[in-house]
Amino acid sequence: MLINEIRPQLMPFQYPWAWDEFKNLCKNHWLPQEISMASDIAQWKNQGYLTQDERHLIKKILSFFANTDVLVGDNIIMAIYKHITNPECRQYLTAQAFQESIHSWSYSHIVESLSMDQQEVFGEFKKVGTIKDKHDFQAQFFEGILNEGFTTKTKEGRALFLKNLCAYYVGMEGMQFYSAFVLLLNFKRRNLLVGTSEQLEYIVRDESLHCRFGTKLINQYIEENRDIWTPELKAEVSKNIEHVVELEDAFVADSLPRDILGLSRSQFARYIRYIADRRIESIGLDPIYGEEETPFPWMNEIMDLPKEKNFFETRVTEYQTGFGLEW
Ligand SMILES: [Fe+2]
Ligand SMILES: [Fe+2]
Repeated sequence: MLINEIRPQLMPFQYPWAWDEFKNLCKNHWLPQEISMASDIAQWKNQGYLTQDERHLIKKILSFFANTDVLVGDNIIMAIYKHITNPECRQYLTAQAFQESIHSWSYSHIVESLSMDQQEVFGEFKKVGTIKDKHDFQAQFFEGILNEGFTTKTKEGRALFLKNLCAYYVGMEGMQFYSAFVLLLNFKRRNLLVGTSEQLEYIVRDESLHCRFGTKLINQYIEENRDIWTPELKAEVSKNIEHVVELEDAFVADSLPRDILGLSRSQFARYIRYIADRRIESIGLDPIYGEEETPFPWMNEIMDLPKEKNFFETRVTEYQTGFGLEW
């Protein structure tokens, strides 16, 4: 059982897939300082590289990421870890929580490297409506699980927990980051902010692994709790995904008030629907939008690239590095 069963020993594994995902995630180790920010610093300090609109956009996206990864980490440790009692799944969750801390470190490293106003990036932008709406939508599921008296021993509790898992792994980890990823990674395609983009590429790869584990976890949970996977709950999960899509439309409209950077809002609308369909299919539900093709195929390449290929084409480094160790 994934939940409500305390097994003090790790082996023999009940879910070998969870152990494999854990080992795979650990291979993906990286640190923000491994990536050179030198050209980003020069481009950020000097005029002529980035417009005011672009600077504003970059800070806004960093704010979204920085604030959201804190919620992500809290949800894993305080909500999911508490109720998923299987030891090999818990191994994965601890590794994932560590990676979320690396992501937060990465955003802080970018903000510090570029000498951005920390209060502005971490505090002010948090108040932006479309960022706050994304955050609040996720927080409601998380807070429901944190409520005193919440238990997975009742049918209602198990259903709420599954809703949280779907909102979190499918909606948040699987969808809510991706418009922002595209917006920021697109700078690298114009040879701008290459270091920042490289940080993001690692994060994208981590997130796609988190999402893969989450999908397996959800499917396993459903298999063990068939009684709660009713037509009503399925409809509710689909509706939540549709809501995530609407939040993304609003976020993109706000971030990209006009078509700039070679990107259009209609591309994003198609992209988020394409992702939504793939994610929802992965948990056994029918696609909602019928969007078969991605307008950003280069994003798939980033997600699928093995770390070695991308990481080593620009520098020679050990795969698992001891960079920066202090004794
Ligand atoms: Fe993350
Ligand atoms: Fe994640």
